[in-house]
Amino acid sequence: MKRIMSYTRFVLLISLIHYFTISLFSEEWTVPTDQSDKTAPFLFTAESVQKGADLFMKNCQSCHGNPGKANYANMDPSPGDPASEKFQKLTDGDMFYKITNGRGTMPQFKMILSEEDRWDLVSYIRSFHTGYIQPEPEVATMTSSGDRATMTLLYDSLAKMVTISVYTVKNDVKSPVKGAEVLFFIKRYFGNLPVGEGARTNEEGIISYPFPEGIVGDSIGQVALIAQLNESSGYGNAKKTIMVPLGVPTEWVSLTADRAMWNINFKAPVWLILSYSLTVLGVFITLIYIALQIRKIFLIGTDYDDEQSEKS
Ligand code: HEC
Repeated sequence: MKRIMSYTRFVLLISLIHYFTISLFSEEWTVPTDQSDKTAPFLFTAESVQKGADLFMKNCQSCHGNPGKANYANMDPSPGDPASEKFQKLTDGDMFYKITNGRGTMPQFKMILSEEDRWDLVSYIRSFHTGYIQPEPEVATMTSSGDRATMTLLYDSLAKMVTISVYTVKNDVKSPVKGAEVLFFIKRYFGNLPVGEGARTNEEGIISYPFPEGIVGDSIGQVALIAQLNESSGYGNAKKTIMVPLGVPTEWVSLTADRAMWNINFKAPVWLILSYSLTVLGVFITLIYIALQIRKIFLIGTDYDDEQSEKS
């Protein structure tokens, strides 16, 4: 009997500990370290802060109130004031992660706002932190190993520069390939648009690509730049695409926005529908008329035959 008592106590103790650890840790909203270290892909500017402010008014203010005014909604857990120390202690990556994934009443904005929008929000929230220094924006790199050489594309958002390096790796030794020709294309709806002349790698196997001006980009100026090793220069076929924000921001009109051959019915003008329908109707009336006339000839023919047979 004594044994059983101690056993139940043990179980009770364990569940108590369990309960406390759960309630303690559930307060904590931890972000995976690799996400926590993430930095924005662009420099925060007055423009990104302004865009973030607009997005904040539309999507966040109802719960978080006006930053610095502590007029956030009264709920549990508390949304908190974005200007508060609690918020500003987060890394940029933490903020981005929390806005992206949400938790409980904090909505998930992954599907609602683009990545750029979410970074604009971080930039806006940071504007309430006077001592804030933005960590260096992430540098995007892309690597493609062709059959003979490897090509790395690097976009440095600070220098606004695309750098390509071509090298071979043999026994863990990286050696630059000089004089390799790289061709450039921009990805478009129907195929790839070649841009400019190809360029050749220098002694260090590097090309600093002067991205041409006036290339049409998407609504935020993103352009898919494709670099491809020219196979005929003998270094293989490595090819890679990188998104660079160097284009001219352009609002694309959807393919069905205007009238077009492949467009939806209700956009056709009335005169077109009417004249088309009348033409089809006219053709059918003519066909029916011809059929009736043929029937008439047939009937006359049979009457004539009948008369002939009556006479004989
Ligand atoms: C429906 C109400 C609601 C809306 C809308 C909302 N939030 Fe939140 N937010 C919350 C709540 C509640 C929490 C606390 C969640 C928790 O701790 O579990 C929170 C937490 C956060 C955190 C983490 C704060 C911390 O200290 O860890 C950030 C960052 C954040 N919200 C940003 C935003 C942004 C940016 C928007 C708009 C795009 C937004 N929220 C919209 C309710 C909301």
